[in-house]
Amino acid sequence: MSKALLLENPHVEADPLLEAVGLDVHRHPGALEEDDLIDALRGVRVLGIRSATTVTSRVIAANPQLEAIGAFCIGTNQVDLRAASRHGVAVFNAPFSNTRSVVELAIGEIIALMRRLTERDRALHFGVWEKSASGAHEVRGLTLGIIGYGNIGTQLSVVAEALGMRVLFFDTAERLALGNAKRCRSMSEVLRNSDIVSLHVDGKARNAGLFGAREFAQMRRGSIFLNLSRGFVVDTAALRANIIDGHIAGAAVDVFPDEPRRNGDAFESELRGLPNVILTPHIGGSTQEAQESIAQFVGNKLATYVRTASTDMSVNLPRLTLDPSENTRFRLAYVHRNTPGVLALVNQAFAEHGANIEGQILGTAGETGYMITDLSSQLPDEVLEALRGMDDTIRLRVLERQRR
Ligand SMILES: NC(=O)c1ccc[n+]([C@@H]2O[C@H](COP(=O)([O-])OP(=O)(O)OC[C@H]3O[C@@H](n4cnc5c(N)ncnc54)[C@H](O)[C@@H]3O)[C@@H](O)[C@H]2O)c1
Repeated sequence: MSKALLLENPHVEADPLLEAVGLDVHRHPGALEEDDLIDALRGVRVLGIRSATTVTSRVIAANPQLEAIGAFCIGTNQVDLRAASRHGVAVFNAPFSNTRSVVELAIGEIIALMRRLTERDRALHFGVWEKSASGAHEVRGLTLGIIGYGNIGTQLSVVAEALGMRVLFFDTAERLALGNAKRCRSMSEVLRNSDIVSLHVDGKARNAGLFGAREFAQMRRGSIFLNLSRGFVVDTAALRANIIDGHIAGAAVDVFPDEPRRNGDAFESELRGLPNVILTPHIGGSTQEAQESIAQFVGNKLATYVRTASTDMSVNLPRLTLDPSENTRFRLAYVHRNTPGVLALVNQAFAEHGANIEGQILGTAGETGYMITDLSSQLPDEVLEALRGMDDTIRLRVLERQRR
């Protein structure tokens, strides 16, 4: 029986999905360091990780039987994706399974900041009764400015409008405005016209330092700032200065430039101890519902890849899905180097052996090509060996279609 190894405790919803495609699921609670991971992967076809396991080029090269990696999280920086492609290993993640969790936290924080809840709460815990409407506002009728109108930004827009807020947004890409949200032509247009600004840009390197002193200065005096995207996007020293000065009336920050690796590690930040500032340890997407949804999403992608070779939503291989025809008996899934003439050579081998092609699809992504070919009969072993031996071949899988 082939084996799947799940590290870092993804939700158990993943296990039956993998077992249903014939994988024997093994679990290890924590992350593994490089050498231990290399050893643990012996005989493993499918690896599941979360964000604390680094999958290096060495790990991938040392385990040629490894076919797929599931990142049971959003980011895939922890996997050497180029090495994965070079070795024909498909990588999947869950890009939107925790979207709603982030949105709900942002909404909760906007209300909490507008009512200065953390201050009222702290005073009462210290035995001080401070009943006052001073500095407390409803969110209804306020303007929320969203920077980055992707999966999270758009959903935040919809929920905020349901609370009676006006929404302005800026995105560098063309995005459809949902509901009554208004698209702005620049980030500064959003900043100048919003009571609350929330960042939801992606974590690409070009967004490092996107938001600093200049951007805070463009925000309205007394406005609220949220960052639940990536820590390096914001200049935290500038945020601190603006909070102390009172230009920014409150902030919620869930992500930091330097985040501790483990629970219990010390947290250092210049944002500690500031009034009306909510600090959370990167938990925007951390809910039971999100964990379950991630396990279902990634578990399904891995299981489908094992069963059908479909790379739908893979983060590194060309994304291909091919519906088999009635006569399909065998499927060849061929990962190869993206060089001219490979397809012709492969199809020549099929033609020479009278293979009847029922369906075929090809895609390329950078240096890697992927082709799925459906056949009505099996190719002789020597043809498969010849294909495997071709210079540009990275990986060839043969899948037999199960008759019902
Ligand atoms: N706090 C958490 O726990 C948590 C959980 C999930 C996601 N996130 C982070 O939230 C962010 C948004 O996630 P998503 O799923 O919505 O991503 P997404 O890729 O769907 O959306 C990002 C959007 O930002 C836009 N964008 C990028 N750079 C921009 C810029 N400089 N100015 C304006 N728009 C810009 C993109 O065009 C895109 O529409 C990511 O950084 C992600 O890592 C955090």
